[in-house]
Amino acid sequence: MILKINEAVAFIRSQYNEQPVVGIVLGSGLGSFTSEISIEKEIPYSAIPHFPVSTVEGHSGKLILGELSGKKVIAMAGRFHYYEGYAANEIVFPIRVMKYLGIKTLLLSNAAGGVNTDYKVGDIMIISDHISQFTPNPLIGKNEKEFGPRFPDMSEAYSKALIQKARAIAAAKGIDIKQGVYVSVTGPTFETRAEYKMIQVLGGDAVGMSTVQEVIAANHMQIPCFAISVITDVGIREEENVITHEEVLEAAKHAEPKLTHIFKELIAGL
Ligand code: HPA
Repeated sequence: MILKINEAVAFIRSQYNEQPVVGIVLGSGLGSFTSEISIEKEIPYSAIPHFPVSTVEGHSGKLILGELSGKKVIAMAGRFHYYEGYAANEIVFPIRVMKYLGIKTLLLSNAAGGVNTDYKVGDIMIISDHISQFTPNPLIGKNEKEFGPRFPDMSEAYSKALIQKARAIAAAKGIDIKQGVYVSVTGPTFETRAEYKMIQVLGGDAVGMSTVQEVIAANHMQIPCFAISVITDVGIREEENVITHEEVLEAAKHAEPKLTHIFKELIAGL
């Protein structure tokens, strides 16, 4: 694994000679955040040795390197999901590459279903914690000591300091922001009514098909994480529950400016 990472890192460095300090992973329908970046280099995933290639609609599949809020950043426009058929350790490959390129902080976004009944479509939720037990842990298998310990602590998977800063940024701008527990599921089916209920009973506030594996790998390597879910549909509701990918993308697009503001300000303050 480390050899493959070194090859990917060497290739990216041959294309771009700066050290990014912030990594950004953008969720479904949330890719236009990259227009905020003063882009210095774009590298399609397909050009990078050993990189998986993204297939899902709404993900363009490239690394974007450049400057944002005065910091060098690297953004993944398009991430890898378990439901696409990738193994958990393939999904986190780019996170490990970003670590070896030099990132000190990881920011992530995703589209998620709301299961907290206070949430409505278009809300944004800071992820304060997660439940990852329905998706395979990316650290299963031989532990690579270079990355981190066999049994990593996960008691502060999402940086409390970054959460506090983000709350202050949102408050100053009058952005209503939720905070809660994200439950990861494999997808690609959206949940049944019974499953949304189960996730709520387990203590989840939102449910989605990404993020936790990336956050686990980042924690393993001691990278502080900050993540926001955009609530794109509501799982617990009286009416019949029909959810489409188009609806998810549309809701994500509408909520994106709030998230963009928070990410930009957070990066400025790092
Ligand atoms: N469930 C799982 N993943 C999702 C959802 C959902 O309701 N909405 C967006 N991603």
